[in-house]
Amino acid sequence: MKITTIILAAGKGTRMCSDLPKVLHKIANRPLLRHVYDMSYQLNNNAIKIVYGHGANLVRKVLADIDVSWVEQKQQLGTGHAVQQVSDQISDSDIVLILYGDVPLLKLATVKGLLANVSDKTLALLTVKLKNPTGYGRIVRDSSGKVTKIVEEKDASITEKEIVEGNTGIMAVEGNKLKKWLNQLSNHNAQGEYYLTDIIEMAVADQITIITTQPESVDEVLGVNNRIQLSHLERVYQQEQAIMLMERGVTLMDPVRFDLRGTIVKLGIDIVCDVNVIIEGENSIGNNVIIGANTHIKNSIIGDNVEILANCIIENSVVGQGCKIGPYARLRPETVLAENVHIGNFVELKKSTVASFSKINHLSYIGDATVGAQVNIGAGTITCNYDGVNKFRTIIEDGAFIGSDTQLIAPVTVGKNATIGAGSTITRDSPENQLTLSRAKQMTLAGWKRPVKHD
Ligand code: UD1
Ligand code: CA
Repeated sequence: MKITTIILAAGKGTRMCSDLPKVLHKIANRPLLRHVYDMSYQLNNNAIKIVYGHGANLVRKVLADIDVSWVEQKQQLGTGHAVQQVSDQISDSDIVLILYGDVPLLKLATVKGLLANVSDKTLALLTVKLKNPTGYGRIVRDSSGKVTKIVEEKDASITEKEIVEGNTGIMAVEGNKLKKWLNQLSNHNAQGEYYLTDIIEMAVADQITIITTQPESVDEVLGVNNRIQLSHLERVYQQEQAIMLMERGVTLMDPVRFDLRGTIVKLGIDIVCDVNVIIEGENSIGNNVIIGANTHIKNSIIGDNVEILANCIIENSVVGQGCKIGPYARLRPETVLAENVHIGNFVELKKSTVASFSKINHLSYIGDATVGAQVNIGAGTITCNYDGVNKFRTIIEDGAFIGSDTQLIAPVTVGKNATIGAGSTITRDSPENQLTLSRAKQMTLAGWKRPVKHD
């Protein structure tokens, strides 16, 4: 069975009140259209075509990496017109699956169920019973319960409007039949549009049976037309992910205050996330990891037995096993911590490697640095890595002790087991095993008196 999936994504999405085309709005930081693509991509033997129109350049640019053929619909004359644009790319024997680019949470299992109902005698249609079907096309059935047609809300009679079974728009049918019916569409209706839904009546006239199925949950077929619906589907999606993580051994202190905007490719067990944790991009998290409240982790690898206290930001970094981070620590891109490193409060690291058992516990900036093992960096230490034009590296060798409030003017090397006295400005390499300091001598002026005011 060869499938051609057509994703309709040309609409503007006026009610989003946005410069961004609707299908580029995001759920879990992934464009709506990308969700639909990622789901349909999992079908075997499937050629995906996307009908695009509004925001054409931007849509194609944002989704430049996906494996589809793009079909432009210059004017949006209706869903039937949209599918017509793909007609000449459909083979007679294909099974054509119609999806919407603004219906992001449809499940693969639902689509597979739909496809299983397609034959040369049938058309498969996904419908949904709705408490409030306003805006949806209604599924009209005869006295024996057989589907006879779909009527759009704006064309519906008062009795038809009472039908609560709505059209999701998602359907599948053989290519030869679809192409024939597409040729017969007209726009003689309330909206002056070419309705794809009109093919149902044509199918019935051709003795084709309409087989309907329903999704497990209504949320699967909800479209995004405004930002209220977008936020609803974001919460639905996040809840699903939270459940998936809890099932795999993660404790979420509050599943509604946890967001996964990406994937955890490698996920350990006994991970505990406090409230308001955000995990973004592609990550790996080991066993027995504790993640404190309000922590944001992005594209990072977190080893086993790591403890991250509250309010940390970790991006494109590697945190080795047994590390202790935060609270209020920031690991900027290309930070690599080996095992058992301690990074304390108000410490910022960037493009730096820190070897095992080293400690940077308070108020420091360590950028473009290579820090050895068992190094102790005192409070308020700054690597001065930037002269306004170029960046330079600081090397701190194993066992070094950097006294508090030290500035290391890069490029500079602090030797193995060297000690730097507190308050130093280090401009030259400091030899191993010795104390180096640069500090003005302290003095006391005997008999000095504070000035007093004279009238
Ligand atoms: C459509 C269905 C309706 C169904 C509803 C479900 C028709 C005629 N009606 O109505 O029965 O209940 O979806 O949400 O099919 N699009 C294009 N090009 C166009 C028009 C639309 O690509 O010229 C795309 C839109 O971007 C969107 C999808 O098709 O992704 C549906 O279009 P929309 O205008 O929302 O259809 P509805 O009027 O809601
Ligand atoms: Ca719609």
